[in-house]
Amino acid sequence: MYVPNHTHPSLYVMSDLLTPRQPDPNNSPDYQTVTSSITRYRLENGRTYHAYQDGSYMFPNDLYECDRLDWQYYCIKHLMGGELHFAPFSQNDPPRKVLDIGTGTGIWAVDMGDEYPTARIIGTDLTPIQPDYVPPNVIFEIDDCLQEWRFRELFDFVHLRCMLGSIRDFKDDIAVKAFDHLEPGGWLEAQELHCSIQCDDNTMPPDFPPKVHFDDLEDATASEQRPLRIAHTYAQGMRDAGFVDVVERTYKIPINSWPINRKYKELGKMWEENFAQGISAFSMAPLHRIRGLNRKQIEIMLIDVRKGLSDQSVHAYQKFYVVWGRKPYPGEVPEPRGEAEMTDI
Ligand SMILES: C[S@@+](CC[C@H](N)C(=O)[O-])C[C@H]1O[C@@H](n2cnc3c(N)ncnc32)[C@H](O)[C@@H]1O
Repeated sequence: MYVPNHTHPSLYVMSDLLTPRQPDPNNSPDYQTVTSSITRYRLENGRTYHAYQDGSYMFPNDLYECDRLDWQYYCIKHLMGGELHFAPFSQNDPPRKVLDIGTGTGIWAVDMGDEYPTARIIGTDLTPIQPDYVPPNVIFEIDDCLQEWRFRELFDFVHLRCMLGSIRDFKDDIAVKAFDHLEPGGWLEAQELHCSIQCDDNTMPPDFPPKVHFDDLEDATASEQRPLRIAHTYAQGMRDAGFVDVVERTYKIPINSWPINRKYKELGKMWEENFAQGISAFSMAPLHRIRGLNRKQIEIMLIDVRKGLSDQSVHAYQKFYVVWGRKPYPGEVPEPRGEAEMTDI
């Protein structure tokens, strides 16, 4: 049975309210202030954006985007053959304390709560878009992962997925902090989309509009210290932070149903739907805030991008990285191990 989650109505902000852990909504004037400042969303070009740490993250938080995030979750689950994670936890060796950074709609955290009923799962995010009813072992907290992490306990599993555009530098913003907040032997796993549009068989012309567009978005977001082109830095970032047994696995996600292989054809169809719903969300704030374009100009630019994304004569794909590594035990001499694996379409 699912129970009301801890953020509704008791919104709890890690960085602002460390004690008491759960502010009393009836007695605490701070609670009122914090709650309204978190939910007074920025409205811009017809979309809403997080209010806490306003401007830090450039993608919307409205219902339309939440639906897309859930759809993207199913696409990725399909890509990974239904696996929730690759860090070596199982029903026989379940995680005990799990942290999901940038949990979004909380869908992974909820699935983890169901999968591992004895584990305690905490999902954190800048914005309170998590569901009202969740498994009893799942809670959500409002927290900015770019600030100092002040969790009171150590975790044995820290997870993040699709944080492109959210962080500046994976090693400093995530890996080093996760290392400090993991028990020895605990695992960090990052699952990340690499936005660049790529192609292996020369069917993509250099001026292919989706490629040109994503390259421009990548340059724009990098100039604001929120790079979309970041997944390829994760494995080295983990090693540099001290993790061992680091494995990097990369997948290809076709941009539409061009592949012959049935699984990837289906995945491409799902991913095309993800783009159809998401391309405006990915583009609007970066191109408005950084490039100074207005909504109409951006929507006009997107006409050719959308056409390109549905063009099956171009065999284009994006890469998806899954990287996991272990915090060594005290005194453990790390072996220079670690693997890189690539799946093909
Ligand atoms: C693309 S969504 C991914 C959500 C979820 N991990 C998933 O895979 O469905 C990125 C999430 O990161 C959150 N986020 C962005 N910057 C953050 C920060 N500095 N601290 C915590 N969460 C952040 C956003 O609010 C958003 O919900």
